[in-house]
Amino acid sequence: MPTKITFITQDGSKVVVEDAIGTLMEVATEHDVEGIDGDCGGVCSCSTCHVKVKREWLDKVGVADEIEQDMLDLEDETDERSRLCCQIEVVEEFDGLIVEVAPLS
Ligand code: FES
Repeated sequence: MPTKITFITQDGSKVVVEDAIGTLMEVATEHDVEGIDGDCGGVCSCSTCHVKVKREWLDKVGVADEIEQDMLDLEDETDERSRLCCQIEVVEEFDGLIVEVAPLS
């Protein structure tokens, strides 16, 4: 089943991907989502894939593990919705997911 993911960039524009596969970072970079660079290639060591998960999706997407949280702790603009999206593998249950690209810190 295709999985639809919506990214909202800092300027408020939306990038909608109808058939997302891979990690959210891979999906974002493949579709040129502004503000998601994925500089480290997805090994959780750069924070250039910082997103904020829409509140209603937090339970489904889950929280950061310890390594990811350590990276997030180095960022200024984090809150409880913050995730590094290279650590989020798209699954069917995420169909309709909306994430906001976090401000650069
Ligand atoms: S791509 Fe580097 S931490 Fe996610």
